[in-house]
Order: sequence, then structure tokens, then C-alpha cells
Amino acid sequence: MLSARDIAVAYNRGTVAEQRALDGVSLDVSRGELVVLVGVTGSGKSTLLRALAGLIEPDAGSVSVDGAPLPRPPARAVGVVFQNPERQLFGETVLEDVAFGPKMIGHPDPRAAAAAALRRVGMDPEEFGPRSPFTLSGGEARKVAIAGIIALEPAFLLLDEPTVGLDAGGRRAVVEVVGRERRDRGVVIVTHHPDPFLPLADRIMALRDGRIVFEGTVEDAVRAPAAYESAGLRLPDLLAVQAEAMARGARVERVATTPREVAAFLLGTRRCG
Ligand SMILES: Nc1ncnc2c1ncn2[C@@H]1O[C@H](COP(=O)(O)OP(=O)(O)OP(=O)(O)O)[C@@H](O)[C@H]1O
Ligand SMILES: [Mg+2]
Repeated sequence: MLSARDIAVAYNRGTVAEQRALDGVSLDVSRGELVVLVGVTGSGKSTLLRALAGLIEPDAGSVSVDGAPLPRPPARAVGVVFQNPERQLFGETVLEDVAFGPKMIGHPDPRAAAAAALRRVGMDPEEFGPRSPFTLSGGEARKVAIAGIIALEPAFLLLDEPTVGLDAGGRRAVVEVVGRERRDRGVVIVTHHPDPFLPLADRIMALRDGRIVFEGTVEDAVRAPAAYESAGLRLPDLLAVQAEAMARGARVERVATTPREVAAFLLGTRRCG
């Protein structure tokens, strides 16, 4: 379990430019669990990922992995994929780029680890391995960057805006990768577009001004939209439709998380009503 307890982070502490980014945030993520982290811009999401990965030390509170405080240098158990990670690809070939991490941690066969990681993100290592990262499309480059972190086999995978800037196909590909990886890792996804992750989400957390203002299941968000919206956000459209229907008296047995399920619910409601 990856845990944060009452962590506080301020940038430029003790100066006139002091900026409080996190204020008493606690969070637990287990292996096999997927948490979607939302919040308006500047609410502290990326800061929280950095703290969870041990890249910044909180001013107060603690972060631990399986009960042990996060070591320095940062724990290998926690892997972070930053926003637009494809900008940081630097290997001469895709395979070398993905193999870099395993090599740095002394993996016995970095190239094999890289090939396996490429397969996990749905890329054929024979086809893509020898290519220069600079010849990849945006979506392919994003998957390669994610493979570079997966190749380290982190127990916890933190992704900052993994679908930003991708077309529908690229977003779907990333969601599929996340869906597979979450089976044996704990995953935290920061996103301004939670819709495609809703079917996978065990929990949603919403930050506002460095504090958690909502934490619950997708179901909770629909049944108590005001709490979610207190983060300054609107419910994702798929959920807003259902919250609206419920506000107008529709009975919802189970909250739907895909357009297909929502359509079935609407048709069913119409037939009954
Ligand atoms: N290196 C830094 N130095 C000073 N202030 C910072 C720094 N990084 C972040 N901040 C401030 O901390 C607050 C939280 O920033 P953070 O990047 O965590 O927000 P975010 O929720 O990830 O936003 P976004 O959705 O725009 O990525 C903001 O007010 C931001 O200006
Ligand atoms: Mg951010």
C-alpha cells in the first residue's frame, strides 16, 4: 500500500512568494486499485504525485510504501509518468530508450525488459524497437514513454494527464494500457478528462486548493454531485446525465460508466416511465 498521511507542501517556503500547494492530504492506494485524481488547475495534483513518488519531501506528514517511510533516493516501487513524457525520450532507438531505466537499476537483461514493456503497451518490439523515438506519432511516443516506466516494474504507477493531446484512438490505447497495468499495480491517474477512466476507477479524489474536498466511488459522485462539484469542477458528462435523471426522479440501481450502459439505462427508464 502506498500511503500519504497529512502531507503539506509549500513552494518557496519562508519567502514572499510562498505558495501552499498541499495542505493535510491523506491517501491510500493498494495494489490492484485505481484512483482518479481530479481538480482545477493549480489545485495541487502534480505536487501530490511528486510527493507520492518521493521526488519532493513534504514539509509535514509522511509518505510510506507498505508501512515503510519512502526512502531517498526515491523508491523504485513508485513510477511516475509526467505530463507530455514523450518530450523526454532521448534514446537513439525506441528499444534503447525503454531499456535505459532497467539498465540504470542493474536489470540483468535491460533489452528483454524493454521488449516486454513495449509489448505490454501494445507495441511490437521488432517493429518499433529499432526506430528513432523522433519518428513516432504523438500517441506512439506516449506509449513508449509509459513503457519506459513500466519496464521498471513499479508496484505503484502514477500518471499525470496521460491522455492529454491525444486523439480518440490514442486515448483509448492509453486507457487500455492502464486497464491492464492496474491488475497488479496500484495506479493513480491525474486527469482533467476522467470519462474514459470511470469504468476502471475504484475511487475518485478531488483536490481544491491543496485539500481533498471529495473522495468516493463513481457511485458516490453521482449520488452526491454537490460534494464533487465543490472542487470547482463539473461532473463528467456521463455522470451528469445520470445525476440529472436522478434529480428528476429516475431510479438508478447502479451508476453506469460507459455510453453504452447509459443508453441502456435511458431506454430502460423510458420504457418503465
Ligand atoms: N516549482 C514550483 N514553484 C512554485 N510554485 C509552484 C511550483 N510548482 C507548483 N507550484 C504552485 O503550487 C500549486 C499547485 O501546483 P500543481 O502543479 O500541483 O497543480 P496541478 O493541480 O497539477 O495543476 P494543473 O492541472 O495545471 O497541472 C500552484 O499554485 C502552483 O502555482
Ligand atoms: Mg499538474
